[in-house]
Amino acid sequence: MLGARRLLGALRLCSSVSCPRPHASVRLRVRDALGVQDASGERVTVQGWVRSVRSQKEVLFLHVNDGSSLESLQIVADSSFDSRELTFGSSVQVQGQLVKSLSKRQNVELKAEKIEVIGSCEAKAFPIKYKERHPLEYLRQYPHLRCRTNTLGSILRVRSEATAAIHSYFKDNGFVHIHTPVITSNDCEGAGELFQVEPSSKMKVPEENFFDVPAFLTVSGQLHLEVMSGAFAQVFTFGPTFRAENSQSRRHLAEFYMVEAEIAFIDSLQDLMQVMEELFKATTEMVLANCPEDVALCHRFIAPGQKTGTHAEKQLPNWGEDLHTEHEKYLVRHCGGTPVFVINYPAALKPFYMRDNEDGPQPTVAAVDLLVPGVGELFGGSLREERYHILEQRLARSGLTEVYQWYLDLRQFGSVPHGGFGMGFERYLQCILGVDNIKDVIPFPRFTHSCLL
Ligand code: 4AD
Repeated sequence: MLGARRLLGALRLCSSVSCPRPHASVRLRVRDALGVQDASGERVTVQGWVRSVRSQKEVLFLHVNDGSSLESLQIVADSSFDSRELTFGSSVQVQGQLVKSLSKRQNVELKAEKIEVIGSCEAKAFPIKYKERHPLEYLRQYPHLRCRTNTLGSILRVRSEATAAIHSYFKDNGFVHIHTPVITSNDCEGAGELFQVEPSSKMKVPEENFFDVPAFLTVSGQLHLEVMSGAFAQVFTFGPTFRAENSQSRRHLAEFYMVEAEIAFIDSLQDLMQVMEELFKATTEMVLANCPEDVALCHRFIAPGQKTGTHAEKQLPNWGEDLHTEHEKYLVRHCGGTPVFVINYPAALKPFYMRDNEDGPQPTVAAVDLLVPGVGELFGGSLREERYHILEQRLARSGLTEVYQWYLDLRQFGSVPHGGFGMGFERYLQCILGVDNIKDVIPFPRFTHSCLL
């Protein structure tokens, strides 16, 4: 085996052998081409999909987009390049010279010397029509094509940027990234919203479970993170999460992404809320700094038409009843339309792992939810019950002692006060972009009665 350093050295050698030919045109992403200052005839090749074609007497104008930015690159060509195949939606490769544009709308444009249509696109059959701003509901029918529109392009670029920003936040703040399992034998939330995992074909001994125990798709990586927080004081995970909720609501998916963090040696909800707030702010600042045009497009074309749904008229529920969407909306409105932390929930409403506040006849647990305008619950978190005897009693009452013996072990061997939270990533995107329906902020939405592609 080559050591990492020797491998890198060998790779460097390879790349210097294959140096570019002196007059070859450089392949550029559209974003990079648009960013060239003082263009003066550099020979470049650009590849992408045609977003518009405008044919004048002697000149042909094309706009080509490759997904690297919202803006497309203007191609200026002699009208002799016009062909029946060069239509909206077709894929092309253009070679030419990058020059300063005379128009105020862009800095640079590509003077085409060669245009190749790589794949034609039949306009009549193509569900996305030239110059039409299709409603998001319409586009949802075409999960294989909707990424070619400006709106989905912007949303998905923001999604990618926000993913990177979340990783940066945790890295910059000393968290260790843990890959928690997708297949698990626990039901962390105890809500029974599990998808069971079984082999599709009959195994040789059909009466046996593949894993010997029932196995499910994870509803949360929390319990595995708690294991890790017993060795690395600050950990996080960010991956797909599955809930068999029979809901087609605009804020529920059967497969969504959750950002989860677990922090050892904290004993107040304040400490937890501070991390939640910092994560939200740092991620949003980075998204705004790195893709302002994409965010602006969403705010311009999606958020204004957002349906607000029913009005939040309902008052808060009685003590001991859970908060429903209507109540969450009421709270957010009542607090002036800003994000609101709700803390210390009745113990009976929450899962077994939350820390008992030991506060009398109507016991509460140290839980915290962050509610945000337009979306409702964005974060859910809590301090965890780190005291062996209290946890043991609670598990025994629910008949879970055997299943969670390993979890009790954590309280027996070097237990520490700790807490953590989970943030629904799609709900986060809905919140910052003003997207009404969660199905529009994930590339391939899965929900009851729908698993397209
Ligand atoms: O409040 P939840 O259920 O918390 C947990 O699962 C904890 N174990 C997390 C932790 O402490 N590590 O879920 C966390 C967040 C919710 O606030 C919500 O934003 C999102 O996950 N969420 C969903 N998002 C989309 N579709 C669904 N079906 C969701 N269910 C929860």
